[in-house]
Amino acid sequence: MRIISGALSIVITLLSILASGQCANILGIFTVPMASHTIVHLSVAKVLAERGHNLTIVTLFDLPVKHEDFTVIQVPPSKEDEQQLNEVIGEATATANNGFLAAFLNAPKFLNILLRIMENAIRDPRVKALYENKNNKFDLMISGYLNNDFQLGIARKLKVPVIAAFPQQPLEFIASVVGNPSSLSSVPGMLTSAEKGKVMSLGQRFLEVLFSWGHSAVQKLMEHGNKKRYRSLFSDDPSMPEYEDLSKNISLMFFNSYGLSDGPIRPNVPAVVEIGGIQIKDQPDPLPPNMAEFLGNATEGAILLSLGSNIKGSHLTPEMVQSIFRVLSNLPQLVIWKWDDLKNTPGTANNILYSKWLPQDDILAHPSIKLFITHAGKGGTAESQYHGKPMLAIPFFGDQPGNAASLVKSGYGLSLSTSELNEENFLSSIVRILEDPSFTNNVKAFSELYRDRPLTAKETVIYWTEYVLRHRGAPHMQSPLVHMSFIAAHNLDIYFLIAFIVYLLVIMIKFICRLCKRKPYKVGKQKVKKN
Ligand SMILES: *[C@@H]1O[C@H](CO)[C@@H](O)[C@H](O)[C@H]1NC(C)=O
Ligand SMILES: *[C@@H]1O[C@H](CO)[C@@H](O)[C@H](O)[C@H]1NC(C)=O
Ligand SMILES: *[C@@H]1O[C@H](CO)[C@@H](O)[C@H](O)[C@H]1NC(C)=O
Repeated sequence: MRIISGALSIVITLLSILASGQCANILGIFTVPMASHTIVHLSVAKVLAERGHNLTIVTLFDLPVKHEDFTVIQVPPSKEDEQQLNEVIGEATATANNGFLAAFLNAPKFLNILLRIMENAIRDPRVKALYENKNNKFDLMISGYLNNDFQLGIARKLKVPVIAAFPQQPLEFIASVVGNPSSLSSVPGMLTSAEKGKVMSLGQRFLEVLFSWGHSAVQKLMEHGNKKRYRSLFSDDPSMPEYEDLSKNISLMFFNSYGLSDGPIRPNVPAVVEIGGIQIKDQPDPLPPNMAEFLGNATEGAILLSLGSNIKGSHLTPEMVQSIFRVLSNLPQLVIWKWDDLKNTPGTANNILYSKWLPQDDILAHPSIKLFITHAGKGGTAESQYHGKPMLAIPFFGDQPGNAASLVKSGYGLSLSTSELNEENFLSSIVRILEDPSFTNNVKAFSELYRDRPLTAKETVIYWTEYVLRHRGAPHMQSPLVHMSFIAAHNLDIYFLIAFIVYLLVIMIKFICRLCKRKPYKVGKQKVKKN
């Protein structure tokens, strides 16, 4: 019975793939100049390529997320743009500790450079040839989205529907493009990380509103430049729509989050599709033989230490490195340590394997790994949570301190700032996490919740992409909010009207009352007049 139903389900799956139509020609415009964004965009593309679709990809970077059938057009930013981008990122990192006002003041400059790089990318003759050549046949465009609406002109040129993709949760200022309601009072944004199940305090809600207004202001500021970009790119074609109408044609938007388990809980319109963890493999690839053998020997369990791709060994002080080494080399556990300068390692120890490059996701999936020591970047923490491994965070900059704070709050591990990092603290944190099962239990429980979905992240991407392909867009599921002004969307006109009616009623009642009181006097007066 089971065999028959198993065979049947395979046949049904095959039939449904055949029925879903031929392979589609999909154009991915993944030009947001941040590798963390592009990794998510490419992961979406990879799923679709594995499904048999034909992907043509425009991107700035050469990243390890690849597929043999991708047609990639790489448009790296000019030296000048790259240098300016590095400068503003440097400023943003330096001001990150000065509170969010400093970040805001930096934001227009930052976004402007990002948008200029994105504009230059689609001005590249090879990219222009994609959308100017009438013989090119595409069925869909996927846009790596970050306020780059002017790029949506490409979809209009090709007369294809658009799916947008964003690498975080449905943040208010992004998801509003597809009409997602803002829910500022109950949904913490980037600023406040309210604990799960707790409501925001007055102060937190106040900050959220200010933050949201600030974002809108920055976005409005950017619109002006974007409109100019759009005109200079596409104004030679009179059939092109107004700039303001471009974003109204986004069929749906993928977000790399899964609110049900990630939180925060919020209402989402149907055009918000969550694909949290899309960059994580369902089945780990086999480890390189030396690592597989090393971990196979781990009778006491093993630890993975990686501080990401941006932080190099030389960024740590020698004392810090020596403290880390002395602690790790004396542990009974085996350690895999990501270290780029293999000629100059912190020291040799039987239980430590240094490696310049790590298949991090695959290592974290290994049952021997009991702890992940991480800089708390978004990708690494998500992988660790997915595989149910507790963490010891050593955050450096950017979103890392925030990610570290939130994993501590959720009980998935501990965090040490670089100033707290000495031998004693480091050892006691490691021992605490290894000996107290609550950290592992918490993160394992999260992992189960995170994986329990009606469709996996990959199935979700396939289903909704092919849905848009089948119906050539999805205007039927668009929220009317997309077409409403701020005033109408928030019913401000109605509240004003009601207030006005109440005001009129009050005046009328007052007038009538006055009339009633004065009646005898007035009547008398009139009589006098008449006479
Ligand atoms: C796939 O896309 C490439 C690049 O756009 C194109 O040259 C090729 O003809 C496409 N293949 C099919 C089977 O449509
Ligand atoms: C949206 O795209 C469709 C094609 O999928 C097109 O027919 C429609 O005119 C577009 N609307 C706007 C406002 O661009
Ligand atoms: C694993 O253990 C075996 C037997 O103790 C040893 O011969 C081998 O070198 C070890 N492998 C590694 C990679 O440490």
